[in-house]
Amino acid sequence: MTRVPETSTSPPMQPSMADFAAEQLAQLARCHRDRSLRVITSLEVPYIEVGSGNSGDSAGTSDGQAMRLVDFASNDYLGFSAHPALATAARTGIEAYGTSSRASRLICGTLEPHYRLEQELVSWSGFPSATVFNSGYDANLGVLSALLGRHDVLFMDKQCHASLVDGARMSGCTLKRYGHGNLDQLSAMLDAAQRTRQPGQKWVLCTDSLFSMSGHCADLPALQTLAEAYDAWLLLDEAHSVGVYGPKGRGLWAAQGLVPSNNLVVMGTFSKALGSSGAFVLGPAGFDRYLINTCRSLIYTTALPASVVAACRAAVALVAADPAVRQTRLWDNIETLNQRCGLDLAGPIVYLNLGDEASALAAAKAAVETYGLLVVAIRPPTVPDDGAGCRVALSAMHEANHLETLAQFMTAYQ
Ligand SMILES: Cc1ncc(COP(=O)(O)O)c(C=O)c1O
Repeated sequence: MTRVPETSTSPPMQPSMADFAAEQLAQLARCHRDRSLRVITSLEVPYIEVGSGNSGDSAGTSDGQAMRLVDFASNDYLGFSAHPALATAARTGIEAYGTSSRASRLICGTLEPHYRLEQELVSWSGFPSATVFNSGYDANLGVLSALLGRHDVLFMDKQCHASLVDGARMSGCTLKRYGHGNLDQLSAMLDAAQRTRQPGQKWVLCTDSLFSMSGHCADLPALQTLAEAYDAWLLLDEAHSVGVYGPKGRGLWAAQGLVPSNNLVVMGTFSKALGSSGAFVLGPAGFDRYLINTCRSLIYTTALPASVVAACRAAVALVAADPAVRQTRLWDNIETLNQRCGLDLAGPIVYLNLGDEASALAAAKAAVETYGLLVVAIRPPTVPDDGAGCRVALSAMHEANHLETLAQFMTAYQ
């Protein structure tokens, strides 16, 4: 029988869970870092209706009214989330397989659509192997911990996505961060670490290709040169660049001239430009089998439903098709904003660094109330302590008048 200590009269060792959570939230609120959910009541891409029941930073409006806004906050770069081909495919997936895959990939959750999608990813990308994951977060967590252990070292750009940092933590490896885009610093770190490198110690260099907040592009050929020089593997997070860059939307790796190799792994998501949900990992021959046997975030979770996978297949078919109408429209929009605002954007993401949380919140509120735009405030820990600001994401679905209003907002807050 479980032994329960007698009730004591001394003060409790810890607060109640409710008191603990309330105090933590109060602390976040004191530095303008508390967040709440924004409920979306209707979508008509590129318009978005933010519901009336929102509060705090998510409200956007001071009077709590529902508002129809132009969406500059989501990652639907090609507008595929509302593409009829994806919707039809998803319906067909449900009709054929129901609403759930009902099991993990290794048990009996690998439906024919998963199998077909992986084959199509291989022929679209040119990589010898492709593995579908439930999300980009799962993929980064799983791949890093499948590749690295506590004796190994991961070199990572300081602006990399949280999922890569969490993957490093889960692997137990030593994580070394270099300044954002600072390959001289990375090179010096590699040099210093080389002196004490043990035989068999694995090294991985890792970067976002298109950085999700700053919108900067990494120099992938230079990273690959360093990886080769130091006998390291290279892992690229192409979450935001798949569909946007390169021939047939393959990603920034292809746009910058990298080719599949035995030391290169590319993670891409279906959840952004590809308008669906889930992710994929492209790698050398046999890497798919390695992941199926070792990658915990792939093994211990129910597979994506056929409806989602069918939509992913439709999206890959669309980006692979020529002419790439949506990509052309997106790049025209990027060019329009560049010219109108005197910018030099290399992609669809613009970040207005406003320096502190209160200014970022005020700008996001003005975007909604004065300009009719959904632009959200990004605050630490997503960005560094002095990096609070507003993130803007362009889509192929934005029209000239939307871009003009955005330009007015940006000019006021730049
Ligand atoms: C750079 C980057 N990597 C990975 C992810 C995770 O992808 P997902 O949303 O599919 O989990 C994101 C998404 O927020 C991201 O921005």
